[in-house]
Amino acid sequence: MILVTGGAGFIGANFVVDWLSASGEPVLNLDKLTYAGNPENLASLQGDARHVFVQGDIGDADLLPQLLAQHHPRAVVNFAAESHVDRSIHGPEDFIQTNVVGTTRLLQSVRAYWQGLADAERAAFRFLHVSTDEVYGSLGPGDAAFTETHRYEPNSPYSASKAASDHLVRAWHHTYGLPVLTTNCSNNYGPYHFPEKLIPLMIVNALAGKPLPVYGDGQQIRDWLYVADHCSAIRRVLQAGRVGEVYNVGGWNEKPNLEIVHTVCALLDELRPRVDGQSYRSQISFVKDRPGHDRRYAIDARKIEQELGWRPAETFDTGIRKTVQWYLAHSDWVAHVQSGAYRDWVAKQYDPQANNA
Ligand code: NAD
Ligand code: DAU
Repeated sequence: MILVTGGAGFIGANFVVDWLSASGEPVLNLDKLTYAGNPENLASLQGDARHVFVQGDIGDADLLPQLLAQHHPRAVVNFAAESHVDRSIHGPEDFIQTNVVGTTRLLQSVRAYWQGLADAERAAFRFLHVSTDEVYGSLGPGDAAFTETHRYEPNSPYSASKAASDHLVRAWHHTYGLPVLTTNCSNNYGPYHFPEKLIPLMIVNALAGKPLPVYGDGQQIRDWLYVADHCSAIRRVLQAGRVGEVYNVGGWNEKPNLEIVHTVCALLDELRPRVDGQSYRSQISFVKDRPGHDRRYAIDARKIEQELGWRPAETFDTGIRKTVQWYLAHSDWVAHVQSGAYRDWVAKQYDPQANNA
């Protein structure tokens, strides 16, 4: 089996479900169930004996050795992290605790387990660390896309904590020989995306008749990848990636935020028109920019394509349509994640007095 951490979050849950249908190999899923972790994301696996869920922290140095000894995984895929940039600006410490301290403790537990494996198992073992393009910093309009050798220039507490975790993973390979792989991926979107992030926030706010808050001038560029394509990239890197290597993962899909919001509005206008006949675009509201906001990300995904033959299956047009349709069909899921804690966050982040431009 494999150990997946953070498998109740957005990408982790998509990965676990896709993994079980693609390979059938059992998964031990360790997740702390923070505000972002949601067992409902895994509802389709209820009663499936191939999926073992454990609520716990990657930094728990008592729990990890027990779990590793009991379940004997052949690989670890580490998704567990605090992941939202705006939250990292309001409160960086949770990001240091999980992304830096937690990753260190996880690496220590896994290293001890790996060192105790028999020779053949030790040689075949892999630790795959899931990271982000944000560690590379921000690009200017004409700059070349991020390659794997682009220097690290993280600008937010979130990206700095992820950069630190990448360096720790690298160091555990160079110093202790742990067979690691790292993936640095661009912005994901798709089912089960928590509605604090741009695309799901725009969909749920539009349907609720609320403002669609666009930071600054809305011309910041992100490189969007449908989540199932990220999952297939991780499966491929785990299967055939060269130990110690980094693989950038992206969709060749650079788009300014305002264009994304316009696309979401157009799809909703088509699929769930407003009763007053107006476009959802009329709900767009330009608000104060994110502090230190990175202007542009773009991933050069040639290495993973040339070495491992991976390419995304979805275009942005097909992926965003599926995504909007998924949110329209899953209003219960949306209602359940909009808990008291979610409402507190939205009130703090989008307080009109503090944030309106
Ligand atoms: P998410 O916030 O939706 O999910 C994170 C999950 O980790 C949650 O289920 C949470 O409960 C769990 N978790 C948090 N702290 C934990 C801890 N200490 N121990 C165990 N579990 C813990 O995040 P996501 O968007 O699914 O991102 C997953 C990973 O992919 C992260 O490492 C993130 O940096 C990386 N990533 C995300 C994107 C993206 O666009 N979302 C892109 C590239 C890379
Ligand atoms: O690039 C990969 C990263 O993508 C991941 O590592 C992060 O975990 C993930 O959260 C995401 O980070 P971003 O900051 O790019 O995603 P977010 O959805 O928060 O914002 C996308 C863009 O939209 C960004 O330029 C900020 C802008 N935005 C976001 C929100 C929430 C708005 O204009 N308004 C908003 O309300």
